[in-house]
Amino acid sequence: MSAQSTPAQPGASPPAITLQFERPEDGPLVDALIERAFGPGRYAKSSERVREFATFAPEMSVCAWSPESRGDLRLLGCARMWHVRVGGQPVMFLGPFAVELGERNAGFGARLIARACEAAQAAGQSHVVLVGDETYFSRVGFATAPGRAVILPGPVDQRRVLVRALTAEAGELAGPVEPA
Ligand SMILES: CC(C)(COP(=O)(O)OP(=O)(O)OC[C@H]1O[C@@H](n2cnc3c(N)ncnc32)[C@H](O)[C@@H]1OP(=O)(O)O)[C@@H](O)C(=O)NCCC(=O)NCCS
Repeated sequence: MSAQSTPAQPGASPPAITLQFERPEDGPLVDALIERAFGPGRYAKSSERVREFATFAPEMSVCAWSPESRGDLRLLGCARMWHVRVGGQPVMFLGPFAVELGERNAGFGARLIARACEAAQAAGQSHVVLVGDETYFSRVGFATAPGRAVILPGPVDQRRVLVRALTAEAGELAGPVEPA
């Protein structure tokens, strides 16, 4: 996989960060950021059960980097993506998703999600699924999956099972989340 850089997205003076797809050498820094953001309690989540069988998609997983004074880059945030199936249909599963504590509320999270979804759409994917707070993710195009349409491997508050359709033709998802 060749890493791709994208300039900060156009808009009203966005902070100077670089969004880049995750490279193998980024793994330890991303893992450490996730550990700081979630702590060990995250291993109990149903999302972790999904990631145990899902196929990692570094080509759609995004890292946000900030230029430091000496020219180094510092990791500010990450959004990882995974290949799964829902009811037999190939879809992407998003997470973990985190922004470094001192860097939140500057729009980096929304930009990470937008870039990951853009990459999934460009790759021909129909949907992105995640488990998270509807109040946050509704701002970036996600909505609660109706009823128990999308079934995770483990207990979950169904109101937190969220889906974003990437194309106008994408139908409703229904079925268990399974390996790709
Ligand atoms: C969730 C997270 C990635 C958002 O990153 P961010 O860069 O601060 O996000 P943005 O700047 O795009 O959005 C910030 C806005 O979302 C709100 N927000 C953040 N987390 C929220 C949540 N869980 N529920 C509702 N709103 C939330 C903030 O209050 C802020 O609101 P404002 O714009 O009205 O001030 C970051 O808060 C984080 O790393 N949290 C810990 C890990 C986590 O919970 N990850 C998501 C798991 S599904």
